[in-house]
Amino acid sequence: MTAELDAQSLAAARGLVADAASIMVLTGAGVSAESGVPTFRDAMTGLWSRFDPEELAQEDAYRRQPALVWAWYLHRRELVAATHPNPAHLALAALAARKKVTLVTQNVDGLHQRAGSHDVIELHGNLFADKWLDGCGRCDPATAIPGTPPRCGLCNAMMRPGVVWFGEELPRVARYRAEHAAETCDLCLVVGTSGLVYPAAGLPGVARDHGAHVIVVNPQPSALDQTADIVLRGPAGVVLPRLWDEAAAPA
Ligand code: OAD
Repeated sequence: MTAELDAQSLAAARGLVADAASIMVLTGAGVSAESGVPTFRDAMTGLWSRFDPEELAQEDAYRRQPALVWAWYLHRRELVAATHPNPAHLALAALAARKKVTLVTQNVDGLHQRAGSHDVIELHGNLFADKWLDGCGRCDPATAIPGTPPRCGLCNAMMRPGVVWFGEELPRVARYRAEHAAETCDLCLVVGTSGLVYPAAGLPGVARDHGAHVIVVNPQPSALDQTADIVLRGPAGVVLPRLWDEAAAPA
């Protein structure tokens, strides 16, 4: 395993991309960092700096303090809505036009789709897709009280963000498709994830166990470095375009 952004590592990684018939890409919060979306394990700023995102991302927390958790998700939604895809998202969308790519993301921000990627497998849901918590099956939103989650006019159930919270199962179809991609790809490209949250963090190991090469792109050490054949130490928006864009090939 090498951990550099030198011409030799880049050239080796470019060779793996060029030779691959089927690529699985696993992205995490780091791929959106250059768009201005804070990663999960970054220190939070401003009003939210005293909260731990992992504590807010739990059903228990929502039931105890719905207004607080709802406000946190509204804050993230507004923050994301004001951002734009960066060169890493765009490079991944361009790669899919040339290669068989299965894009699996842990992100809930929708930036891959806004960059032009289709059929993105969202393992942790989507920030913009609310759903009902214990709904009656015929739920219909009543007029919302500002600052509180919308409630059903029939059964009074609350809406909740459509993201996967800690302790919850991943969406079944997304998980199945991601595992299938890991088992059948010949290259697994891991971008911008700390590799600490399972089952997503297990996918590169599955790919490797099935004979795929693994490339990690991350400016910092991650828990998945040891699974990789090549670690490229750099920001995704700089590294990814150089992995397959002819104009940006290393000298
Ligand atoms: P983390 O916040 O754990 O990790 C972000 C990773 O991105 C770190 O390894 C950073 O070094 C790296 N990074 C930062 N800037 C980068 C850049 N410009 N280019 C590339 N990498 C960069 O985020 P995730 O690994 O996505 O789950 O977190 C996994 C899951 O934990 C999230 O989906 C979320 C969270 O709790 C749920 O909410 C269920």
